[in-house]
Formats: sequence, C-alpha cells, structure tokens
Amino acid sequence: MKIVLLGAPGSGKGTQAFRISERYDLPHISTGDIFRDNIAAKTPVGIKIKEIIDGGDLAPDDLTIEIVKERLSRPDCKNGYLLDGFPRNLVQAEALEKFGAPTAVINIEIPLGKLERRLTGRRSCENCKGSFHIDFIKDADKCPVCGGKLFIRKDDNPESVKERFAVYSKQTQPLVEYYEKRNVLFSVNGDLPVDEVFGEIVEVLEKLK
Ligand code: AP5
Ligand code: MG
Repeated sequence: MKIVLLGAPGSGKGTQAFRISERYDLPHISTGDIFRDNIAAKTPVGIKIKEIIDGGDLAPDDLTIEIVKERLSRPDCKNGYLLDGFPRNLVQAEALEKFGAPTAVINIEIPLGKLERRLTGRRSCENCKGSFHIDFIKDADKCPVCGGKLFIRKDDNPESVKERFAVYSKQTQPLVEYYEKRNVLFSVNGDLPVDEVFGEIVEVLEKLK
C-alpha cells in the first residue's frame, strides 16, 4: 500500500503513523522529522531551512520533492510507503503522481480550533520521534516508550502554530479535493481518542488490502 496521511498540524499524523507503520510493516516517512534531523545535525539542508521551519512556513518544493523522491527509491519502499507530511501543496502532489502515486490518502479531520493545545502541550522524542502530550505522561523529559529525551519543537510556540494553520488552510487543505477527485481519499474523525482514530483508519485499510 502507498499511503499518504493528510491533516492539519496536530491532527495526529505522527501519532497514527507509528501505529499504521507497525501494523502494516510500512516505512514511516515524515518530512518534518527528516528536516528536524537535518537541522539538529546542522547539515547544509538543515542550515538552509531552519528559519523557515521554526517560523512555520514550508520548505522549498524542489528540495522537499528531491528528498522524498530519493527516499521512496530505497529498497524498503518497494512494497509501499507511509508518507506523513508530504505532499503539502499541489506542486508536491503533482510531483508525487509521477514517482509514486498513493493508493490511499487518509485525511484526519478535526477543527483547527481544537489543535492549539495539542501542539503547545506536545513533547517529542529525540530518539524514536514519538509525540506525546504533557497531560498524559508522567515525566515531561523522558520518553515513555523508549526512554529517550523529550523536547519541545521550536515551531510549537503560539506564533509559529498560527502560521502553520494559515499555511495548512491555504496550501494543504485543497489537496482534500484533489485526492477526492482521484477517488483515493478516505476521511476519518481525528477528534476521538487515539485508539479510536486508529480503529477508523484500520477499517479503511483492511478494505483496501
Ligand atoms: P511536520 O512535522 O509534518 O508538522 P505538522 O504538519 O505541523 O504536523 P505535526 O507534526 O505538528 O502534527 P501531527 O499531525 O503529526 O500530530 P501529532 O501526532 O504529533 O512539519 C513541520 C514543518 O516541516 C512544516 O511546518 C514545514 O516547515 C516543514 N515541512 C514538513 N513537510 C513539508 C513539506 N512536504 N513541504 C515543505 N515543508 C515541509 O500529535 C500532536 C499532539 O496531539 C501530540 O501531543 C499528541 O500526543 C496529541 N494527539 C495526537 N492524537 C491525539 C488524539 N486523537 N487525541 C488527543 N491528543 C492527540
Ligand atoms: Mg508530525
């Protein structure tokens, strides 16, 4: 299966991707994680995009498309992939049609008004990349899954979150219609507990297997 996870910042793409990837044995490819790793390692890509990402805007299309194209060409993607955070606009979607058109696009639906608190209370793991929320973890510094160090993303501040929501509404939301027209869009309710959202996703994917 070639799966794209679509959804606003904080809708639960990363959280669900961990579960989907494990259950269906698909490589989880998060462009956000790839960029953050580059920033942390101070690679040329990381240095170029740091300010853009921290502020909540999108990295350049040509660079992003090149990274994803190369990643999808690796052997672990020969039976499919799980893309989290790509494509994010029409240019990227058109590019993906050429090198790996998705068979299912899961759209995690939830009103933006419900997401700010999810983001400002999020803790991310440096090691396993898991996403957690301070309301649900005992130790705000230590990953409950792998024991890695938890950190607060630079773009999880109210100003950057506002910008990310604006970018999402303008550039990414139109992809819902784009994939609807291609008959590959499946929407699930993201405003439910994590396990229930996953249940809805599994129901969709089981029918497609
Ligand atoms: P990216 O890392 O993809 O960020 P995003 O799209 O803003 O989404 P998030 O990772 O913030 O949210 P999520 O949907 O994964 O939610 P999560 O599961 O963590 O991208 C970051 C940046 O990189 C972009 O802004 C851009 O600059 C750049 N970039 C990335 N891709 C790009 C591209 N293709 N082109 C150009 N630039 C690109 O959950 C969030 C919180 O909610 C957590 O605390 C979690 O515990 C909690 N939570 C999750 N599900 C539930 C639930 N069901 N109920 C209650 N709480 C929940
Ligand atoms: Mg994410």
